[in-house]
Amino acid sequence: MSVRNAPPHAGAMLESLRGLGYAPATALADLIDNSISANSREVSIHLEWAGPESWVRVVDDGDGMDDRTLETGMRLGARDPKAERAASDLGRFGLGLKTASFSQARRLTVASRKNGGPVVCLRWDLSLVGQEPGTEWPLFEGPAPGSEHLIAPLVKMEHGTIVLWENLDRIVTDGFNATDMIELVDRIEAHLAMTFHRFLDGPQPDLRLLLNSREVKPWDPYLVGHPGKALESPVYRILHTTGVTAQGHVLPHRDMLKPAEQEVAAGPGGWTQQEGFYVYRNKRLLLAGSWLGLGDGGKPWSCDEAHRLARIRLDIPNSADADWKINVLKSTASPPVRLRSQLHRLASEARDTARRVFAHRGYITPASGTRSSAVAGAWQVRRSVQGTSYRIARDHDLVASILNRAGPVKSDILSLLRLIEETVPVQRIWLDTTEDKETPRTGFVGAPDNEVMETLSSMFEALVTFRGLSPTEARERLGRTPPFDRHLDLVSALEVKDRQ
Ligand SMILES: Nc1ncnc2c1ncn2[C@@H]1O[C@H](COP(=O)(O)OP(=O)(O)O)[C@@H](O)[C@H]1O
Ligand SMILES: [Mg+2]
Repeated sequence: MSVRNAPPHAGAMLESLRGLGYAPATALADLIDNSISANSREVSIHLEWAGPESWVRVVDDGDGMDDRTLETGMRLGARDPKAERAASDLGRFGLGLKTASFSQARRLTVASRKNGGPVVCLRWDLSLVGQEPGTEWPLFEGPAPGSEHLIAPLVKMEHGTIVLWENLDRIVTDGFNATDMIELVDRIEAHLAMTFHRFLDGPQPDLRLLLNSREVKPWDPYLVGHPGKALESPVYRILHTTGVTAQGHVLPHRDMLKPAEQEVAAGPGGWTQQEGFYVYRNKRLLLAGSWLGLGDGGKPWSCDEAHRLARIRLDIPNSADADWKINVLKSTASPPVRLRSQLHRLASEARDTARRVFAHRGYITPASGTRSSAVAGAWQVRRSVQGTSYRIARDHDLVASILNRAGPVKSDILSLLRLIEETVPVQRIWLDTTEDKETPRTGFVGAPDNEVMETLSSMFEALVTFRGLSPTEARERLGRTPPFDRHLDLVSALEVKDRQ
């Protein structure tokens, strides 16, 4: 059998590797993965705007590399993707450093120092590939002439690594200016704050991340500790896996968040882009919101408004990479078929709660899902073979008390209620909801206090005079009843009217 050796053409190979689909932020995240795997405690990123001379540099205080490790690390396919890795290792394919860097820059310089040893430095320069006679894959020693100062910080460090990107032809394109650079830094900050939030979180974070000298603060997708959350499930162990866990979260309705909090909670991609599963591999976020192709009746769930408050934290270990089809970009993961039904169950719990919170404007108590000893709702939903209808509860405290006092107009009031019920503008509400992507306003949102007070006083009267509750009991009950539970100051001001 005759065999031919068919190595790739270096130039063509390297150029095509540039198009894997990295954005600047995802490419930087891949470099930070390497820093974390090398036990860094602080990673400092700098983007310098200097027109065509602009550069990006990542300095970490990790273990660093000696000359041999650096040379291996600079090779494409430095390590076998099938090899077992330390549990904290965020790498996989032995490509990230090179592919991430080439996606943004034509020149990649890596300088490193281990245990106070010598500073070692190697460099790829795509513009010089094919120019060196006899060397198809030329790896240059040392920084490019004129760039020595950019790797100088390493001299003062015992150990650590500097990755330097120059000739940023994919970032500094025609028309790109200083303002664009500032916006880019903001986008990068949002992405890193999200991707590494679990490293940056807590009183003693594992990692400090600096971006142009500013500390990157973690972004918490789950608003942990917010009193308005409707669900924070236990951490479930997924059966038949080695250490996959999941936790369901339902965020508070937006009425319960201040406008600034809402924008932050939505996340960099916006509400609907950020609902569903958040998949972490060794605490590093791979996927920020996706229903992972799960669905009902063969139809995958789409990212819609009604379920935007559901977020499920899913943790997988790196030993399960092949099982979950982790890609080079670390931007996708797909659950093994045998786990789908478990994940479906978990997701359904979070989705159901999220939908209820969305529809009821947040009137669901945390965890339990229902309110005890509140006044019964004014509306009832009736389902029958003829379809669903909406009825005003005749035994609602206020309604019952009015009917009781109505005397000769009682039948007119009943006709009026019936008229309202039969003409609920269902179509209109439905249209407005889909169009505005919000349920229409109810529950006195934005109403002045005196209007709320008018209805509240009538309710209070009905409870005290008609139902025979003591004023304290009546106030207590109203305080638990939506929508008045959001006007506790008004509720506590309720007094029995002087009747003479
Ligand atoms: N910041 C760094 N500190 C120490 N070693 C590094 C660093 N970046 C890369 N390396 C070394 O280079 C190798 C190749 O990195 P990379 O191409 O990202 O592939 P992977 O992370 O999948 O191993 C790493 O396995 C590691 O040995
Ligand atoms: Mg890597």
